[in-house]
Amino acid sequence: MNRDGKRGEQSVARKHIFLIGFMGAGKSTAAKKLCEMTGKPVVEMDARIEQEEGRKISQIFEESGEAYFRTLETGLLQTLRNEKSSIVSCGGGVPMREENRESMRENGYTVLLTAKPQTIFERVRYSKDRPVLNKNMSVEYIEELMEKRREAYETAADITVWTDGKDMNMICEEILKEVRKAEEKEIHRENAQ
Ligand code: S3P
Repeated sequence: MNRDGKRGEQSVARKHIFLIGFMGAGKSTAAKKLCEMTGKPVVEMDARIEQEEGRKISQIFEESGEAYFRTLETGLLQTLRNEKSSIVSCGGGVPMREENRESMRENGYTVLLTAKPQTIFERVRYSKDRPVLNKNMSVEYIEELMEKRREAYETAADITVWTDGKDMNMICEEILKEVRKAEEKEIHRENAQ
């Protein structure tokens, strides 16, 4: 199921849950909790890329450039088409490419986690692992970049969950409830055809 009413390529049972959103939105923490709640494995895209490349994200950016990193992200999403149903914690830039949005649409449910710029800032301000923010660690810059990304994030999302003021249990219960609803709708649609 997606916003165009097109069905994905895979049956409901094989679909992933893609967690998208800005750096610090809580994707990795939610992915771990969802793994506990569902028993599905977690794919942490950044960690998988680091493992495959044998270097840190910051090093990849520095030595090979951002475009190279973005191509690795796109390649990994393609690889995930053939992996079992997982909770995929996506890097914050993943939804910016149309082909990535298409890939997520075809292979799972995409859940956007959102938070206010101030909340994001508090969560990432001491991080040294986020090259996109390294020289721009301020609420203003985060707000500006969030605004630039907003349309792509919203276009990619099947489900949006606000995280401000909620604990991780509430967030993950809401995610699973919304995913189940989307699955049920899709099953109905498949049966009606
Ligand atoms: C990025 C987000 C990071 C990582 C890279 C670029 C971005 O992932 O992929 O530093 O452009 O938003 P997280 O969202 O997991 O921090």
